[in-house]
Amino acid sequence: MRIVNLTLFTLLVLSEASTQNIFHPELSGLLDSSNAPFYFGVASGDPQEDGVVIWSKIIPENIEPQQVSWEVALDTLMQNVVGSGSVMTDASSAFTVKVNAGGLKPGTTYFYRFKHKDTFSPIGRTKTCKTTDPDQLRFAVVSCADYQSGYFNAFGDIAQRNDLDAVIHLGDYIYEYGSWRPGRKRMLKNQYRSHIPDKECTTLKDYRTRYGQYRLDPQLKEAHRLHPFIVIWDDHEIANNASIEGPGNNRQKAEEWELRKAEARQAYFEWLPIRENPEKSIIRKFSFGNLAELWMLDGRLEGRSAQAKGINDPALQSPDRFMLGEAQTAWLLNGMKESKASWKIIGNQVIFSPLNDSKVFSRTPSIGMDRWDGYPVERQRIFDFFYENNLKDIVVITGDVHTSWAFELTSEPSNPGVYDKKTGKGVIGAEFTTPSVTSFNFDEIVPRFITWEAKRRFKKKKNNPHLRYLDLNRHGYLTLTLTKEYAQADWFYIKKRDRIDERVKKKATRYLELGGQSLEKCQPSD
Ligand SMILES: [Fe+2]
Repeated sequence: MRIVNLTLFTLLVLSEASTQNIFHPELSGLLDSSNAPFYFGVASGDPQEDGVVIWSKIIPENIEPQQVSWEVALDTLMQNVVGSGSVMTDASSAFTVKVNAGGLKPGTTYFYRFKHKDTFSPIGRTKTCKTTDPDQLRFAVVSCADYQSGYFNAFGDIAQRNDLDAVIHLGDYIYEYGSWRPGRKRMLKNQYRSHIPDKECTTLKDYRTRYGQYRLDPQLKEAHRLHPFIVIWDDHEIANNASIEGPGNNRQKAEEWELRKAEARQAYFEWLPIRENPEKSIIRKFSFGNLAELWMLDGRLEGRSAQAKGINDPALQSPDRFMLGEAQTAWLLNGMKESKASWKIIGNQVIFSPLNDSKVFSRTPSIGMDRWDGYPVERQRIFDFFYENNLKDIVVITGDVHTSWAFELTSEPSNPGVYDKKTGKGVIGAEFTTPSVTSFNFDEIVPRFITWEAKRRFKKKKNNPHLRYLDLNRHGYLTLTLTKEYAQADWFYIKKRDRIDERVKKKATRYLELGGQSLEKCQPSD
């Protein structure tokens, strides 16, 4: 009897723990019961020519496995249904639901919804890849959305657009930080919303709760409902400055780090509309007919070595240090060499172009160890391959730096003599960096006059001759438009971070002609 009671007690405790794990009690104040059980809305992603991933999550009344049905239609009234089915979900995936909706037509807008018991989810909108000779593609490109640093007005503006093929998210979708970070006085001044849980995320439960908090943000939720997302993680989905060896501060035992990476990876795959695969890998390619191919890379958890300790660390120049690792690099380069697409797009976490910031912050030489500058040997191998195989029309899109940059893509200045700014010799494409949705940028951590001086020094011709646009102070997103004639980046900036305000202004444009060798300004186009 005592044994039975003990077993019952253990089961109750376990069940209680599991329930808390799944139902996110810390979020209860944010849940609107009129949205039950689909509190977190719907999302779609990883479009292909004949299908797309559709996503939702329920909070059921108990932790028994639950059936959820879905349907995809050609119309907003969900009358012309072209696909439907039902799936089971349970506590092992925190009651998230992910369906590969197939049998669809290319370049077509679809509507979808889920149903649990008698309740329908909101209706989502999505789009399959254009593959039959598309004239134009347009992506919104985003990164670095820190919930604590302001409202997601950039997502609010993206939600309202109807000229996008997809939203490309380059990482820092969440931040793992607790709700207070010592030593960042200016950040605290600008802190408008607090993180839940009130601690650094290190466990599956923490990460799940953090994703839940972000996904209750109305602007992010609406952007997901109305556009397919193509996502990769950067470091903050796991830990600051993560590599395969550990977080940037290296204060974690190896076995703890392995567990933390696995749990962060699981939560990411539960919450993001990314296509499932056994390895939970984010490395994948998207094809848009003969107009473009897009390679989405993992520069964090696949092959990245720990950062070098500085410019004088002999490890910096070691041929055995990697950002991507040999297998991923081979996959990327072979794919690019064989590609017949006009534009070869690389979706990447950190700045790829060589960037000379030696004289920007100090008189002593320095480089950013978290960028590709910190992995120079592997990057040079990649540049060498591009040049040897005469690969051109490459566009690298980048997040991470919370600021806006446009570079002519060339291995200069790390490889002097390759590039001639006047003639465009050595230019094989462009790199466009998207600003942060909200995360701190220059003028939020240093006084403005330092920002102005930093910008002046970055833009000095002899420091960075290939730099063609720079903004260090604004938040927002960029759009990448591709046609058979040009690749164009447009930077859109939000007006406010401290209140919901979806006024967004286009401030800058840079475009590169197909086969062209210089990045030009052009008149803003729609
Ligand atoms: Fe970031």
